[in-house]
Amino acid sequence: MKAIIVRPGEKGAVLKDIDLKENVGENKVKLRTLRVGICGTDRGIVTGKLSFTRAPEGFNYLVLGHEGLARVEEVGENVNLKEGDLVVPVVRRGCGKCSNCKIGRQDFCETGEFIEAGIRGKHGFMREEFVDDAKYLVKVPRDLGELAVLTEPLSNVMKAYNELVFVQKRSVWNCEDSTFGCRRATIVGSGPIGQFFAMVFKTNGFDVTVVNRREPNQIEEKISKTVGYSFVDTSKGLEDVPDSDVIVDTSGYPSAFIPLLKKMKRNGVLLLFGTVGGEKDEIYSDLITFFVEYNISVIGSVNASKLDFEQGMTLLSVWKTRYNGVLQDMITKIVKPEETQDAILEKQKGSIKTVIEWSK
Ligand code: BGC
Ligand code: ZN
Repeated sequence: MKAIIVRPGEKGAVLKDIDLKENVGENKVKLRTLRVGICGTDRGIVTGKLSFTRAPEGFNYLVLGHEGLARVEEVGENVNLKEGDLVVPVVRRGCGKCSNCKIGRQDFCETGEFIEAGIRGKHGFMREEFVDDAKYLVKVPRDLGELAVLTEPLSNVMKAYNELVFVQKRSVWNCEDSTFGCRRATIVGSGPIGQFFAMVFKTNGFDVTVVNRREPNQIEEKISKTVGYSFVDTSKGLEDVPDSDVIVDTSGYPSAFIPLLKKMKRNGVLLLFGTVGGEKDEIYSDLITFFVEYNISVIGSVNASKLDFEQGMTLLSVWKTRYNGVLQDMITKIVKPEETQDAILEKQKGSIKTVIEWSK
């Protein structure tokens, strides 16, 4: 079958014919890949910047791709799925040793011995077909269809949001009417993750601002209007950024979010999501004093549980009707498998999410 492979440590991604000899047995499912999304992690792997990527044991290459969407072709015994069902596979598989992994919370693996499809130690989904364990597959609701390719990136956002709400139980954080209507979230970055954070916060009643160091492009303008958040171009100054209870960084650039900390309210949260910005900045005592005096929590968050995938899918179904056409607009480019490397390397202006179509 055709697959996009990378050789960890080297640059580039190529389309190759491979044979992995995977069999459908008990608890296993054979899947036909429909769509796979491309994200910054793929870019990090293909440009050689992501140091932790590695091939599965016994292989000198890795099949790329972790934002999968596939159709069930064949099921083994004990599988509660049927031919034709659409599914999204979870990315991380646990170490099998720590308590978190034993209860399906490998996103909080304690040993670090987990593997991640298409990223480290496990072949990913950029291939025509694959066999997977049924317990790692999340069934797509009928009404969602192909938009479910957006589930994986959103699952990471769901996890981060759920953590935030959990951490904020440290004080009374709900507003007088019990909602989050008096709370403000500012999101740094307007890529797919920034947009999803904005939608999740809006859906939960927050007042939302998305910032970038440029004007919004046409699609971003449309999304911000439909979803109902403000977009602030911070290259013109920070005056229009409201005082915030939560600041989420999706950029990985300290220079993009550290200056915003002066807008942080007491008992606020700095949620860090972006990586590999490749910048250096200093932590200075005034900043430490501010974190202490203001009870600021800093949350770093990665990956997601199966439950976060399920919650993400439910929200996608809601947004599909509520945000009329916006999810479709977020998929700014659909490419063929042979165009993968170019699609990963060119970060086009105005593009949000590129997906590879493997099959219809
Ligand atoms: C993926 C996560 C993964 C993380 C780090 C992200 O792009 O969506 O599932 O845990 O990269 O490897
Ligand atoms: Zn990703």
